[in-house]
Amino acid sequence: MRTPVIAGNWKMFKTLEETKAFFQELGNMEFPSQVEAVVCAPFLSLPWMGEHVSNKVGVGAQNCHFETEGAYTGEISLPMLQTVGAKYVILGHSERRQYFAETDEVVNQKVRAVIAHQLVPILCVGESLAEKEANRTNEVVKEQVVKGLADVSADDAKKAIIAYEPVWAIGSGKAATAEDAEEVIGYIRQVLAEIYDQTTADAVRIQYGGSVKPENIATFLAQPNIDGALVGGASLKAESYAQLVQNAVQGGK
Ligand code: 13P
Repeated sequence: MRTPVIAGNWKMFKTLEETKAFFQELGNMEFPSQVEAVVCAPFLSLPWMGEHVSNKVGVGAQNCHFETEGAYTGEISLPMLQTVGAKYVILGHSERRQYFAETDEVVNQKVRAVIAHQLVPILCVGESLAEKEANRTNEVVKEQVVKGLADVSADDAKKAIIAYEPVWAIGSGKAATAEDAEEVIGYIRQVLAEIYDQTTADAVRIQYGGSVKPENIATFLAQPNIDGALVGGASLKAESYAQLVQNAVQGGK
């Protein structure tokens, strides 16, 4: 019912030449049709990806501005992303919240703009280690979800993807257990039912992210509420990316 989506987040890795080499290595590898495969690459790789590999993977960006144009030095707009064939935009990643001071309010403006331009937002939420240790995980993710989706209608929310990425699991090699991730993601679905209704909550795809590897992806996907993964490091090598997509199917979705 909810098609799992496996998205690579390449962060600030790969020149255009390296992007081309990745897809050349990926070659004609067939991906299972049961999953949606996405790569969110640096902006400079997107035009080439849109032209050459968008039939194979969904093309995604890692950020955007919420205005369509204007005096915003260094920013990229949604019409620009549309013209190169991007279909997804990661928003509110913890690295942007931490290093670029993105607030829930700004993330919300971006979520609404992405949906208005018919792209799919991947809204990232997740608690820090200190928040986890203070037993504040549910409170933190609830606030991020509620504020991130403020003024988004139920029909629009259904088009969004939420990525639960505990900050302590990102790049640490210490993934959450599938059971713990399922518990928080189940809670996020409950929050969606409170904001909207059960039908909407059941339609939204929620990914897990944080040290996902080809070896552990199936355990996450086997959980009833986990609809995919947002993967950093393990998505950077073609072989590993292909394995992630293939192994996701073993999750039984
Ligand atoms: P890692 O998979 O490298 O832990 O990164 C996760 C992440 O931040 C994806 O957005």
